[in-house]
Amino acid sequence: MRIDVINGVNLDMLGRRDPGIYGDGSLPDLETQIYAWARELGLQVRCRQTNHEGEYVSWIHEALDSADALVLNPAAWSHYSWAIHDAVEPFEGPVVEVHISDVDAREEWRRHSVLEGLTRARIVGRGIEGYKEALTLLKELE
Ligand code: DQA
Repeated sequence: MRIDVINGVNLDMLGRRDPGIYGDGSLPDLETQIYAWARELGLQVRCRQTNHEGEYVSWIHEALDSADALVLNPAAWSHYSWAIHDAVEPFEGPVVEVHISDVDAREEWRRHSVLEGLTRARIVGRGIEGYKEALTLLKELE
């Protein structure tokens, strides 16, 4: 199974954002860990991150033809980007939404996700382990 893990805006600042909320690891640490989990699980994973919404949308378009599943953390865009909702809608494989922090226990505006209704699972508040849970869940679907 080919899986694209696509992280969105400000996730390149992991390690410099509030460690009480996001932990102290950097984005390269997170991606190294994701690739290690993928190897253990025998999954083919590609990790990407961007701060540009249009690029995020284009990578989802690319995934329509090149990936079997998606793990998405659109970060702040999750809460308002209908462009990302519309890009994900035609994707036929399973989509798992991940948030490092417990978005449901933070500000009210973080509780809403544009991916609602489009995902197989939503994993929040599990720290970076949430990505491992997402990959494990996708492995079970293989
Ligand atoms: C986040 C939660 C979002 O509300 C926030 O804007 C982020 C990161 C998370 O992974 O916990 O940037 O998606």
